[in-house]
Amino acid sequence: MQKQEKIVEMFNAIAPTYDKANRAISLGLDTSWRKTACQVILSKFINREASIADVACGTGDMLGLWHDMAKGFNVKLNRLVGIDPSSGMLNEAKKKFANLEFIEASAENTTLENESVDVLSISYGIRNVVERVKALEEFNRVVKMGGYVVVLEFTKTPKKGIVTYFRDLYVSKVLPKIGEMISKNKEAYEYLPSSIGNFLDTQSFIKELEKCGFEMEVVKGFSFDVSTMFIAKKVRNL
Ligand SMILES: C[S@@+](CC[C@H](N)C(=O)[O-])C[C@H]1O[C@@H](n2cnc3c(N)ncnc32)[C@H](O)[C@@H]1O
Repeated sequence: MQKQEKIVEMFNAIAPTYDKANRAISLGLDTSWRKTACQVILSKFINREASIADVACGTGDMLGLWHDMAKGFNVKLNRLVGIDPSSGMLNEAKKKFANLEFIEASAENTTLENESVDVLSISYGIRNVVERVKALEEFNRVVKMGGYVVVLEFTKTPKKGIVTYFRDLYVSKVLPKIGEMISKNKEAYEYLPSSIGNFLDTQSFIKELEKCGFEMEVVKGFSFDVSTMFIAKKVRNL
């Protein structure tokens, strides 16, 4: 089995316990990180219409927030679609959001029309995409000129001081144990810290986004930089 297929299989396996494990390992903080990303973007579309695609949507947490928070900013959602290659994750999402639209597809080939969305979000997903540059090129294809890509991701930061030491200890040792206890899947939650370790640091990821036609507008670290939000505007076609 190819590396990417194995990753998707792993998400199929942990899908039923994903939400419970996610809340526990992020100590519930992930919801506030997601909400901040939605707020920043929706405030740009106040009293306007927008089409939003959430790629690597998993069990649909970002979709739910886009849907609920848009009303508060008076943003009319012309389209809200969740995209993920894992049928298991999509099944969980459909249980929670029966009325929303989903597509079983990958970040590298979303099946969306050219320049059809105003916003493309991907939360804790890009690290799992083996052909990452191909996916960023795909994002450039489907996002309208002047539209936005929103990435939330766990990122590596250079070690500095005691807080960072304990943060890294939590991510590498405590978090996999909690995930394993809830999901009964050791491999999946050992994969989490190793995939963070293998992902780019913040500056390298910014450069990659820029090469793919996006200009950085906001980069913000949350909770001692455990998680980073990247908001980038499409400024050129590839
Ligand atoms: C850690 S989960 C994040 C799910 C959700 N976005 C969230 O924030 O909870 C990662 C997701 O990435 C998906 N994924 C893995 N490889 C992918 C790919 N090549 N393209 C798109 N999604 C992918 C998995 O199926 C999984 O649902």
